[in-house]
Amino acid sequence: MKERDLLNGIVLENADHVLKRLYSLDTAAFRDGGRIGAETKELVALAVSLALRCDDCVSYHLARCADLGVPTPKLAEVMGIATLIGGTITIPHARRAFAAWREMRQKEPRADFDLVLENLRGIAREGADPGSVLAAAAVLMRNSIPGYDWVGFYLSDPVTPGTLVLGPFSGEPTEHVRIGFGRGICGRAAELGRTLVVDDVSRESEYLACSPEVRSEAVVPVFTVEGAVAGELDIDSHEQAAFTPADREFLEKAAAVLSPFVAAAAEALKGGGGG
Ligand code: SME
Repeated sequence: MKERDLLNGIVLENADHVLKRLYSLDTAAFRDGGRIGAETKELVALAVSLALRCDDCVSYHLARCADLGVPTPKLAEVMGIATLIGGTITIPHARRAFAAWREMRQKEPRADFDLVLENLRGIAREGADPGSVLAAAAVLMRNSIPGYDWVGFYLSDPVTPGTLVLGPFSGEPTEHVRIGFGRGICGRAAELGRTLVVDDVSRESEYLACSPEVRSEAVVPVFTVEGAVAGELDIDSHEQAAFTPADREFLEKAAAVLSPFVAAAAEALKGGGGG
């Protein structure tokens, strides 16, 4: 962007009236959203730039899309159509565009994680029953963090050790209500007792699909005070490689805040006959 501004300055120092008018037309065209809105304008510009194979133009409009908070699945649909219309010769440009987009998204945290953590601590302080605390925490994380499309908790079954039981969640219902330790990404994280981040679930032979839209997943085990796995926090995203190191740090802190409630909810399965 800096280079673009610098070069534009040099162009305008030398420009004749035709170039100057062209530049002001460009500025005026993007000045407001008009009838289609700023986001659609940028997506149209991105698609045209990609089909015309102008890498500089693509990276400029990608940066504008990032500023406007365009979600990755939406951007990917536009890039798909542009590549289709542009033909396979556009693919190298689409490749560079996706790499640039990924880098842009990884630089900026997807949400104000400190604020979300503060709100999670608030929910924990309210001292409601463990199930309600976990349900509220799942809704809070899903609603306040873009790309967290399914947020839920699995609890270690005290009746059948070595089994995870689906606890409170926010998102589409899943058929995976019981998962043995070692099975799927969830079962493996429980067995290993450490966080697992999977950038592309289609490459995982062990993956248990909850929805065909899911592209990446993060699973963070939650421990009892004695150090046993009490359960885990599981996040699915429709974005590929959605979970950055900042997400991982946030999720591990969130899991620590919620650990007493996960442990208590798991303990309560003894009386409730499991899931
Ligand atoms: N994908 C998980 C199963 C749980 S769903 O994502 C909610 C796995 O592979 O273990």
